[in-house]
Amino acid sequence: MTINQNVPSYTGDIAEQHIDPSQEYSTENQEIAFSDEQHAIWADLFAGIHQPYLLEHLCREYRMGLELLQLDPHRIPTVAHLNERITPRTGWHIERTVVRYTLADDWYKKFAQRIFLITDYLRTRDQMEFTPEPDMFHDIFGHLPFLTQEFYARIEDKFAPAYMKATQEEREVIKRLAWYSTEFGLVVEDNRFKVFGAGIISGRKELTRTVMEFYRLGRDNVIDYARPIFPQLHEQFLAGRNDLHRIIDGVNDLHKQGQMSSADEGWNVVLSLYKKLDIAQEGMFGGEVIIAPFDVETIARIPKTVYAFNPMLFVCESLEEMDAVLDSYLKPIAMR
Ligand SMILES: [Fe+2]
Repeated sequence: MTINQNVPSYTGDIAEQHIDPSQEYSTENQEIAFSDEQHAIWADLFAGIHQPYLLEHLCREYRMGLELLQLDPHRIPTVAHLNERITPRTGWHIERTVVRYTLADDWYKKFAQRIFLITDYLRTRDQMEFTPEPDMFHDIFGHLPFLTQEFYARIEDKFAPAYMKATQEEREVIKRLAWYSTEFGLVVEDNRFKVFGAGIISGRKELTRTVMEFYRLGRDNVIDYARPIFPQLHEQFLAGRNDLHRIIDGVNDLHKQGQMSSADEGWNVVLSLYKKLDIAQEGMFGGEVIIAPFDVETIARIPKTVYAFNPMLFVCESLEEMDAVLDSYLKPIAMR
């Protein structure tokens, strides 16, 4: 599939860090002695999300993986603990890095070897609800339960081979596809929207906000949960696609102007966009996040929102469907 449009210059990437390579962890030396305060922050983050009223909205595969990972709610796990539970199941290997935010090029080189990097940085007390930078809690609690699951390992396997062969423009699309699937994706299970992306799972505020939207769609009769929900969402999407794309263009401009650079700013500036574009705040546009079907062409248009909440999330009809849609874009590139 070719994407017929100019990918805007804004990428949402976090600035590169220059690290002294001699500070990097060696394969023999992966463990850290954490402070009591760090363990306490971990425990509070864990308890904030490990609640029945939130867990029920996370997809089945995540919850199964979380069981298998046997994380201690009160202590940050060792790398050895994680590898003991992950490597025998899927062949993935966890490695610690001093880099706080690994850039895509380095990240995908490790991915190609089925190595998943986790940072050694943990957020501070004032970032409990939201942090733009993926920290250790995000990496471990958000992603690693999935890495016990073969299907997820397969999904993650798709990105690196395509990324290596992609053009610069395609690389930006690949990063967006990864962002809106493994980081911020949703999936339908048992005719309900479920959270799939690690970025939503590990960020309490974005998670609760997403769950609120699931409820609002029912309350405002946008989606009738007694009938199959995905076809209804798809219908809404087709009817609203023009407006959706106008909103995306507006979001691109906001990003370029640096107006989506904090959690507080994010939704407020998107709201002012609705007014400017004269789009009524109702139906699929009536909440604080827009939920649309996972569609490569649409995702290629919208940048990653890193410093604020994502104004738009994408849902796959099933994980098999996610697999197929990702393949449709990534495979032809990987096979060049
Ligand atoms: Fe992540």
